[in-house]
Amino acid sequence: MISGPLFVFLLLCGTDFGHAGRVLVMPGEFSHWHNMRTIIDALVDRNHSVTVLTSSSSPSVPHTKKEKFTFNVFKVNTEKEQAKAMWDSFINVWMINTAPKYEKVFMFWRVMTDFMAVASDICYGMFHNPDLLRTLRESHYDVLLSDPMMPCTDLMAQTLNIPHVLSLRFTFAYGFERMCGQLPTTPSYVPAAGVTDHLTDNMNFMERLENMLLYIIHTAIFTLNTRINFDALYTEINGKPTTMCEMMGKADIWLIRTYWDFEYPRPLVPNFKFVGGLHCKPAKPLEKDLEEFVQSSGDHGIVVFSLGSMIDTLTMDRANMIASAFAQIPQKVVWRHSGKTPETLSPNTKLYDWIPQNDLLGHPKTKAFFSHGGTNGLYEAVYHGVPMVGLPLFADQPDNLNHMKSKGAAVVLDVNTMTSKDLVDALNTVIYNTTYKESMMKLSRIHHDQPMKPLDQAVFWIEFVMRNKGAKHLRVQAHELTWYQYHLLDVMAFLLTICTLSVFIFIKTCCFLYRKCIRRTVPDHRAKNKNKKE
Ligand SMILES: *[C@@H]1O[C@H](CO)[C@@H](O)[C@H](O)[C@H]1NC(C)=O
Ligand SMILES: *[C@@H]1O[C@H](CO)[C@@H](O)[C@H](O)[C@H]1NC(C)=O
Repeated sequence: MISGPLFVFLLLCGTDFGHAGRVLVMPGEFSHWHNMRTIIDALVDRNHSVTVLTSSSSPSVPHTKKEKFTFNVFKVNTEKEQAKAMWDSFINVWMINTAPKYEKVFMFWRVMTDFMAVASDICYGMFHNPDLLRTLRESHYDVLLSDPMMPCTDLMAQTLNIPHVLSLRFTFAYGFERMCGQLPTTPSYVPAAGVTDHLTDNMNFMERLENMLLYIIHTAIFTLNTRINFDALYTEINGKPTTMCEMMGKADIWLIRTYWDFEYPRPLVPNFKFVGGLHCKPAKPLEKDLEEFVQSSGDHGIVVFSLGSMIDTLTMDRANMIASAFAQIPQKVVWRHSGKTPETLSPNTKLYDWIPQNDLLGHPKTKAFFSHGGTNGLYEAVYHGVPMVGLPLFADQPDNLNHMKSKGAAVVLDVNTMTSKDLVDALNTVIYNTTYKESMMKLSRIHHDQPMKPLDQAVFWIEFVMRNKGAKHLRVQAHELTWYQYHLLDVMAFLLTICTLSVFIFIKTCCFLYRKCIRRTVPDHRAKNKNKKE
């Protein structure tokens, strides 16, 4: 006989995953790693055993640290410093904001090509390493969780024959999502993600034209680049003709790191799950020094300033300009800054190498968040309802901040033309014009009012694919169609042919009948005429 409490315990286990699973994680770098780390911690807390697979060149995954999960580090040819330099140049391409628009298109090509160099090294490092592959096979993982910033993870899921969960923010103009994930995007009201800084879901004729052109250009570049670079790599590794999109399209679940507080409403497919802000949590108390500094601001409160984990230093000119703007506001400023101290720094501003950003944003004295607009920081601001001043630098940041601006929760500055006065005005606007705080609080309420917390949802879907050995029932059949079948071009061609044929036959019949009638009536006339003569 099973005793009561034990029975209840078993029952609880039964409703749970039952046994702890084995999760293989292939993370991205920088902020992508920080976000993935949150999911890993949650999985570990739920007793799953987690292995993080990363390359020896990874510039930001701290694989020498002791953790509650294991690291499996495979050797690649690139040195860590080289990889870091490669990522830096990758960022620099996006930092040249003064470049004309058409040049940016070529930059996009260069970014993809730079990425290719890192990518192929990592892919060969994994798939030309029999020892690694054997260890991974023998570990019998239940699921692969990966960030597409790390290449060839879909090939790994196929090689190990396990379900695949992708975690991503977005790709430019929804390249991966549209072309590999079959996410429908309608250019008339879905602005091309990440490649615009002013388009919203409400577009006039010129904007729709621009949006359509953005989609066309990025689709062309994306297709060309994946065909030339990635498909060749995938084919070589897989040993038979393989495209990257076909592989990525096999993913069971796509965990997207945004939500409807941020996104404009648009159509979805059922294996896309929105888990934006999963890393956000209630603020913890600050350390004594920091708390004292924050409290010293009195009723004016504080401004938090950070440019994220990828930007270590600003140029001295810019740092001075920003510091002199801070000197003109009554608030205290907490600035995450690791470069040289600006000469114009005033006593109301304190520099820190690192700041507990989430705890600061959750502090009741925080009035504004001055940020580059990275997704992680943006979601912390939404979570705690802190209005933003944006200084977008590269990649998705201009677009991210444009979302916040269009929702009335941020003022956005231009890093190339910004003056001290602009910054002071912007800070004053978001702090003293209450509409910004109100808009941000509205987004915050939408964010919190969900049936399930974003992190719980991410964990749920990972466990779901472990329990059910995938989620193919959510995968649309569009994956199996060719492009002309998808757009029903074959059906339209058929219908057009039928119509043309019908019209043709109709006209021919008319002509035939007409001729017949004439032939019959004309002899009649002649006959009549004949009769008259007679
Ligand atoms: C994880 O394991 C510990 C110790 O065996 C147990 O107390 C805890 O309830 C488990 N957690 C979950 C979510 O199953
Ligand atoms: C506050 O900002 C909103 C939106 O930009 C603007 O419409 C409004 O006039 C501003 N209010 C004041 C008092 O400046």
